[in-house]
Amino acid sequence: MSDQTLRFAQLSDAGAALLTPTQQDSCTLVIFGGAGDLTRRKLMPALYNLLREGALDERFAVIGLSRREQDGDGYRELLKQALAEHTREPLQEPEWVVFAERIHYLSANFEDPEGYRALRDRLEQLEAAGGSANRLFYLATPPSAAPIILHRLQEAGLINTSGSSSPWSRVIMEKPYGRDLDSAQELNRIVGEVLGEDQVYRIDHYLGKETVQNILVARFGNTIFEPLWNRKYVDHIQITAAEAIGVEGRGRFYDQTGVIRDMVQSHLLQVLSLCTMEAPLSFAADDIRDKRVEVLRSLRQITGSQVFEDVIFGQYRGYRDEANVAADSRTPTYTAMKCFIDNWRWQGVPFFLRVGKQLRARMTEVSVVFRPVPLCLFGRDEVCQQLESNVLTIRIQPDEGIDLKIVSKRPGDSLDVRSVVMDFSYSETFKRPIKEAYERLLLDAIRGDATLFARRDEVEHAWRFVSPILKAWEDAQRIGPLFYAEGSDGPMEAERLMRRYDRRWREIG
Ligand code: BG6
Repeated sequence: MSDQTLRFAQLSDAGAALLTPTQQDSCTLVIFGGAGDLTRRKLMPALYNLLREGALDERFAVIGLSRREQDGDGYRELLKQALAEHTREPLQEPEWVVFAERIHYLSANFEDPEGYRALRDRLEQLEAAGGSANRLFYLATPPSAAPIILHRLQEAGLINTSGSSSPWSRVIMEKPYGRDLDSAQELNRIVGEVLGEDQVYRIDHYLGKETVQNILVARFGNTIFEPLWNRKYVDHIQITAAEAIGVEGRGRFYDQTGVIRDMVQSHLLQVLSLCTMEAPLSFAADDIRDKRVEVLRSLRQITGSQVFEDVIFGQYRGYRDEANVAADSRTPTYTAMKCFIDNWRWQGVPFFLRVGKQLRARMTEVSVVFRPVPLCLFGRDEVCQQLESNVLTIRIQPDEGIDLKIVSKRPGDSLDVRSVVMDFSYSETFKRPIKEAYERLLLDAIRGDATLFARRDEVEHAWRFVSPILKAWEDAQRIGPLFYAEGSDGPMEAERLMRRYDRRWREIG
């Protein structure tokens, strides 16, 4: 083994050691909304995989809490079925048996103090039996339930507020974090009455995706990109999050929410921040979050009539027929927009964001489109017309990877050129499955690493950007959404938006 390989092997061993849980890294996880969709589809499969990999120790336990009347066995059966359907690795009976022993259930109403007394008794029983005294509360509930749950937890003495001293208490909160800037600020105020900021983990599952984390590694782990990553060399950046599915039975929630609250305020703006932020002082949570916030603060607001110039609101044709969606709903299921970041690095560079449901294919990616070369040296017009701009594409999902479009000489006696693509694929290179975002995020919250969670000011600045857009749309009741066919690329107007600026969207799919 060469020196270099040896060092790498030692590093991998050290990496594995990080996964070995310590006393401080164990906890009892209490999930409010314990029988809900998120718990069944995402949280429990993530915990099952973490347990299989040895990232959770024998003190770890989970208590699901919901209104549903059922006993522990009924709850475990419900979860077993959910795991069989949703876990990324097939469910194995022996591993399920070990996992099931850690799962407990409490039927309780979130408002009723009695339920919190029962929860305290259950937590104390588990601790007396050797369980962890650290407590992680996961609010997998609608955001409106958060204030009452937090106050009841506090009244019941279930939250340790004495800073970082052991045993710790932390709370994970799901999005959408508020409905607009005012409600997000109000929620932050209430949360701040009960918890220190270092106890709050506001989840945005995009930050837990491997490929989203790789944006920073690609930018700051390589020398060749960063010098070009600015207004001098970048023509524009486009970010697409296309889904091939519709609202999937979440009509009631979605019709009140819409694509801008559901996807832009959180996921897209986080991806945009990672792509455009300055280099952080270090990879510590607050150093990275400070830089993400700077981007959000520099986003130029789109207000009033400008909204209808630069933002497209679309709706897929079958949306109004979905269960629990109003027959005359204006809720957008698609949006495309052009925005600017007013800072030294990005002044004048347009950013195009596009996101929607029921589109041609599932595809989330970031494309950095570079400026054309200043002069074509290859003589003939037909050759010069083949000169395309370089494009660096970070493929977030599916088919995770990075590709770079470059111009190359076509083999032959004459000088002919063509664009070719250099491609790095995660699955081919690493040959192991990509973990679900929730696995990483749950583990980080247990370990106390908040890097991949949104800080209070981040959430508020993101709302500051989207709220005027939402207001303009909600005030303009006479304007309907632009309809688009299911399985299409979205409304034609999104193409026109790009053409107006002499650019083109990348193909979806
Ligand atoms: C969720 C949204 O946050 O993200 C959903 O509420 C959306 O509407 C989902 O479908 C997309 O996540 P992913 O990981 O499938 O891209």
